[in-house]
Amino acid sequence: ITSSFNSVCCIGAGYVGGPTMAMIALKCPHIEVTVVDLNQQRIDAWNSDNLPIYEPGLDEVVKACRGKNLFFSTDCEAAIRAAQCIFVSVNTPTKKTGLGKGKAADLTYWESAARNIAAWSTSDKIIVEKSTVPVRTAEAIEKVLLRNCPQEGVHFDILSNPEFLAEGTAIDDLTMPDRVLIGGKIENDRGTAACAALCEVYANWVPKERILTANLWSAELSKLTANAMLAQRISSINAISALCECTGADVSQVSFAIGKDSRIGPKFLNASVGFGGSCFQKDILNLAYICECHGLQEVADYWYSVVGMNDYQKTRFVRRVVSAMFNTIRNKKIAMLGFAFKKDTGDTRETPAIDVAHGMIEDGAKIALFDPQVPEEQVRMDMGEEAMKSITCYSKPTEALKDAHAVTIMTEWDEFKTYDWRAIYEVMHKPAFVFDGRNILDHAHLSEIGFIVYALGKPI
Ligand code: NAD
Ligand code: UGA
Repeated sequence: ITSSFNSVCCIGAGYVGGPTMAMIALKCPHIEVTVVDLNQQRIDAWNSDNLPIYEPGLDEVVKACRGKNLFFSTDCEAAIRAAQCIFVSVNTPTKKTGLGKGKAADLTYWESAARNIAAWSTSDKIIVEKSTVPVRTAEAIEKVLLRNCPQEGVHFDILSNPEFLAEGTAIDDLTMPDRVLIGGKIENDRGTAACAALCEVYANWVPKERILTANLWSAELSKLTANAMLAQRISSINAISALCECTGADVSQVSFAIGKDSRIGPKFLNASVGFGGSCFQKDILNLAYICECHGLQEVADYWYSVVGMNDYQKTRFVRRVVSAMFNTIRNKKIAMLGFAFKKDTGDTRETPAIDVAHGMIEDGAKIALFDPQVPEEQVRMDMGEEAMKSITCYSKPTEALKDAHAVTIMTEWDEFKTYDWRAIYEVMHKPAFVFDGRNILDHAHLSEIGFIVYALGKPI
């Protein structure tokens, strides 16, 4: 029975695998950590000065350990053979075709990682589910591992250790997590020992009372539930933002007032153009699909409505832009500030800016885009060649704003607040409109300058 380990491998060098493993390497100098990926370009970037993801503080952590006890490689076989503990942090996107398409989690990458582990393992391994997976995935993975391992007597102990970090704050979240959750077969000795071994790793820097253990299924389901509840909060406040605009209430004041109730709490109550990111939508759809599969249609519908409200918020934003600008934005230059799904990341997966841009292009707009972290090639991949005929990407905000009829704020980058809005007003067409999809600008100041300002959930 494995009681502790000093050699770790992680399959998947993405937004989760990279930062989480770098943190383990930093806090546990006695553990050798190897992160592997099939994607050579990604591994090369992890081994360079230009890391494949932008995350405040990540460069320093990687630099402190890389080449000492942190390694990035494409040699999955060697890393799997050498490791006592294997984290699996591959992508688990929504299925695009077949049964459950558009809802269920696609476990192709997970299954192929498991098959590789089975094929190449010659000693006992602790397998840690780091990816977000449907509840009871560990059961399926165990079958794949046990029935494919050619080596007699090799034991696999499966743990669920979902990741709760948020992009943009990954290093802070990993340094001081609200909790670390470890699920295992705590009803037997092997499972308990495997759980204890992983707890020991985190105990190198996380206070013991924040390291929680649970049974496997509870840990798996807790991750889906946490994301669903967080997204539900945003959809709830976004729903109220629509009502605020009709009634003269101000959604920021409503958020502040309800957040003072300790049962509700102040965080995650910012109305927005919609939530984005690679996980909220996919995890809710996955959760709802599992409910459907268990015959719980009402429960599924409840969670689907959270995604429905998010789609409504994005559509509502586009409608607002068009109707405010005299029902036509044809051939008007609309400056779009921000494309990432949130500030302090270059990640654009499921960003609301994609849907808003498509909506405005449908109405004939010419979009002038500036984002401090998102390169033009990424925008091209997200929007497609046809839409790019109506989009110009700029490397300076002033160029995007010059001669624009309107500004739409899509991401809450801090730098947007520091711009000289009086100078911007001078170079824009009049009337000059601001549509603040993140409620970050000083609206009274903008109105005073002469802008016509539309903010979410604010009196019009
Ligand atoms: P990602 O797409 O950035 O990274 C996944 C990596 O796995 C890719 O680089 C891919 O090439 C690699 N991969 C896939 N199959 C492989 C295989 N068989 N062998 C080796 N490499 C393989 O994904 P991510 O954002 O890091 O998310 C990973 C998981 O973590 C997902 O399940 C996600 O839901 C979950 N999660 C993500 C976040 C987040 O902030 N992005 C937070 C918490 C949890
Ligand atoms: C989210 C969760 O916060 C993490 O705990 C989780 O680990 C992760 O998903 C995951 O499983 O992938 P992330 O998507 O990186 O993290 O970022 P968030 O800060 O949660 O923001 C998600 C979206 O909601 C962003 O578009 C953000 O702008 C939006 N948001 C957030 C709002 O519109 N209003 C808010 O009050 C907060």
